[in-house]
Amino acid sequence: MAIANRTETIAPSKENAASKIARHATVLSGQLQQLRTRMYPPKSEKMLRQFLTNEVSKLTSIPDSTLKLMSSEGRGPVPSRLENNHRVYTLAQINELRELFAKQKPTEALRFLPRRRPGEHLQVMAIANFKGGSAKTTTCVHLAHYLALHGYRVLALDLDPQASLSAMFGAQPEIDVGANETIYAALRYEAVERRPIREIIRKTYFDGIDLIPGNLEVMEYEHETPRVLAQKSGSGVIFFERLKLALSEVESDYDIVILDTPPSLGFLTLSAIYAATSMIITVHPAMLDVASMSQFLLMMGDLISVLNESGAQLDHDFIRYLVTRHDPNDAPQSQVVAMLRHLFGTDVLLPTAIESTAVEAAGLAKRSLYELEMGQIGRDTHKRAREAVDAVNEAIVQLINASWGRG
Ligand SMILES: Nc1ncnc2c1ncn2[C@@H]1O[C@H](COP(=O)(O)OP(=O)(O)OP(=O)(O)O)[C@@H](O)[C@H]1O
Ligand SMILES: [Mg+2]
Repeated sequence: MAIANRTETIAPSKENAASKIARHATVLSGQLQQLRTRMYPPKSEKMLRQFLTNEVSKLTSIPDSTLKLMSSEGRGPVPSRLENNHRVYTLAQINELRELFAKQKPTEALRFLPRRRPGEHLQVMAIANFKGGSAKTTTCVHLAHYLALHGYRVLALDLDPQASLSAMFGAQPEIDVGANETIYAALRYEAVERRPIREIIRKTYFDGIDLIPGNLEVMEYEHETPRVLAQKSGSGVIFFERLKLALSEVESDYDIVILDTPPSLGFLTLSAIYAATSMIITVHPAMLDVASMSQFLLMMGDLISVLNESGAQLDHDFIRYLVTRHDPNDAPQSQVVAMLRHLFGTDVLLPTAIESTAVEAAGLAKRSLYELEMGQIGRDTHKRAREAVDAVNEAIVQLINASWGRG
């Protein structure tokens, strides 16, 4: 592997700490850029795979036989054919089928097209925990994909300067995301540079999912907010209300907004918790992680009290713990899960996100399990992992439906 800017790695004879760190940052960033370009070329566009008739049938509850009949009679969207002549549909075509059936059978419309209806509020879900690596981003991606595959309109919002969620959607933070193109653009305090949230929302390759990408720029909010608070100028919208306010501008465009938060309890995470109508706290069942979550809950409790004192109303439809990267055969993990269930009862989601090499391998290729075709990873491994992740997402959708007053 060629080393970028080799000459720059040679330190000048006398160098102070600041310039040394700056030099290392430049050299490292250049090198990473090169590596990334090679592993995931900047021009590479993510594409969603197509879906076989039996998958479409499961996703839409339209019988296999009906889909086949429609296709041979030339009704509805025209599927492509694989080499073995099997029919495959794009997600856009699946959504076309949904619209078609919802229109044809108005009494069952909700079954085909589950989008929210008048009177059902936008569900804003924050996925949080300040423990790094508790599978926040993985949970967000799988949930977003699941919802979109089932016909919901989703906005995925990356509040993490590491921008792993954006990367999963093919937006490489350092290449594809320019200045004033993250959520910071809609939150920033100087009115001149602030942008309407609609301008920073991007379509993704995944029909039904829009994205607001992140990159290092979102950190500006953590730096700017204390400065503005210290000025006590009293003018402008207070920090925790800005995200909620920005989201209200696109309220009618989505059914669910998913907020991926950074592993910290800063102003952005607080804004997310305030904007959220529900929260999933991801927890890896290991003692250290649970100890860290306990700190997170204590701090969050304190901060929410402070927000309440300043007149903020925090009222979530639901808050649930999700056990992630769970190995049910690991005895110490089982003890931790049992303890969590004992302490928090039904606030711990019954299904758990099982630790799986399939999730890990898919993640490395910037994919969710839903993007893999059966057989790309060991069939049984994939199937088991997929069943577990489906169960988690189904449980979350049930909570969403309940928040909308659906039975
Ligand atoms: N069910 C799973 N099985 C195996 N690996 C998993 C699973 N869930 C997540 N991982 C892996 O664990 C790592 C951390 O996951 P992820 O990035 O989702 O965590 P995070 O909480 O978003 O981290 P951060 O706090 O840095 O934002 C990733 O490499 C991911 O692929
Ligand atoms: Mg993350």
